[in-house]
Parts: sequence; structure tokens; C-alpha cells
Amino acid sequence: MLLRLHQVSKSYQIGDTTIRALDGVSLTVEEKEFLAIMGPSGSGKSTFLQVASMLAEPSHGEIYLRGAEVSTYNEIQRAHLRNKEIGFIFQSFNLLARTSALENVMLPLFYAGYGADSNTAKEKAKVMLERVGLGDRLQNTPAQLSGGQQQRVAIARALINDPAIIFADEPTGNLDSKSGEDIKKILRELNEEGKTIIMVTHEDDVAEIAKRQIVFKDGKVLSDSASKKKGKK
Ligand SMILES: Nc1ncnc2c1ncn2[C@@H]1O[C@H](COP(=O)(O)OP(=O)(O)OP(=O)(O)O)[C@@H](O)[C@H]1O
Ligand SMILES: [Mg+2]
Repeated sequence: MLLRLHQVSKSYQIGDTTIRALDGVSLTVEEKEFLAIMGPSGSGKSTFLQVASMLAEPSHGEIYLRGAEVSTYNEIQRAHLRNKEIGFIFQSFNLLARTSALENVMLPLFYAGYGADSNTAKEKAKVMLERVGLGDRLQNTPAQLSGGQQQRVAIARALINDPAIIFADEPTGNLDSKSGEDIKKILRELNEEGKTIIMVTHEDDVAEIAKRQIVFKDGKVLSDSASKKKGKK
């Protein structure tokens, strides 16, 4: 068992109002799974991703990564864990502007302890950019790349530390259909190679590349195709 959430809730306090963004979510993810998280706007999909990836702390409940209770970790431990075990892909790419594709991909290596001018780090980043088809765009800044190319840089960056899990929040949401197809293909290949992927999407054709579909509603899991198959629900 790779990742387990037990009765996880996340509330936000805005003035006198408490918003229950996640409400008692329990979920188990095995190694090499590919999950699509779906559901209406405001149903808690992004909050789930942030909490499950240890970007945000749950208000209640426990999170385990390979059996270790990571929800009790302090901020330093969480940052270390994220850098080592987690890769992120966002709808808006989140690349550093005025910084080359190569340097963007090298950044997590830098946090992992490689020197800023390490040739090993450069070589690793170059190999990763070649693998997403950008071997000829190493020195381009984000502004000098198309949306689909920027997202491929973001994927290379997410992969560079060989994380256990890739989290993606609407990775094709800002892309035209051709670029979206490229990203889908890369994600499918990564999963075939054994990467665990947890992806939020509201597009059916994107959700179809995942092997397990989970639908959220009002901060709860409404349906999970894995439990349907087992005949539990
Ligand atoms: N930082 C925050 N502070 C307060 N409320 C928040 C915050 N982030 C999310 N929420 C609220 O939590 C609920 C769940 O939000 P979330 O972003 O997880 O939804 P979502 O399913 O990702 O929606 P979308 O499909 O529109 O991206 C919403 O009601 C939202 O308004
Ligand atoms: Mg969202």
C-alpha cells in the first residue's frame, strides 16, 4: 500500500463561516495506480490533491505513505518528503519566468542537494527534457514556449527526483486539444512505466486514460470505480 488517507477532513474558516472542503475522506492508493479525481466545481478535488500531496495540512484524519504516518510531520519534514517523493503538475504550469527550461527542471535537484552548476544535475535535467520531446528547447524561457511545451517542462520538473507519486491538477485544463493529447500520451506512458499518478480533471476523455475514477461531491467520495469492481458499493 503506497498512500492511505483515513477519515481526512479539511476545513477553512472565513469569518464566522466554516467551509468543509474535505469531509471524512478515506482512500487507499496502491503502487502503479492511475487515479482520475472528478466532480463538480467546489467539490474538494484540489483540496484533496493538496492534502494528499502534503502541500496542505488536514484539519482531521491521518495520511500514511508506505505505512509511515506523514500527517504528523512538521513543515520541514513535509518539505523534504515532498521534494523526494512527490511530483506536481498544475493547470497553470507554475514555471519560473525568465528562467530556462533546463534551469526550471534542475530546481528540485538543487533543493535535493545538488550544486547550482552541477554537471550531473544538468545532464539529468537534459535527459528528462529530451524524454518529453524538448531536447531542442533547453534554453527557452517559459514565455518562449507554447502552453503544451511549458506543461511538458513542468512534467520533466515533476519527474526529475523520481518521485513515488505524481499529482496533477487539471494538467490539460489550459491547453488546446492537440497539446492536451500530447500531455495525455506522456501521462499514460509514465503510468505504463510504473509511475503512480493521481490526476484531477473534469474532462471525460482525460479521465478515461486513468484506470480508476473517483467522483467527489461536497467534500466526500461519491463513487470509486475500484470499489464498484470489487462489488463493495
Ligand atoms: N484557501 C481556501 N480558503 C477558503 N476556502 C477555500 C480555500 N480553498 C478552497 N476553498 C473552498 O473549499 C471548497 C473546495 O474547493 P476546491 O478548490 O477543492 O474545489 P474543486 O473541486 O477543486 O473545484 P474546481 O473544479 O472549481 O477547481 C470550495 O467551496 C472552496 O470555495
Ligand atoms: Mg480545483
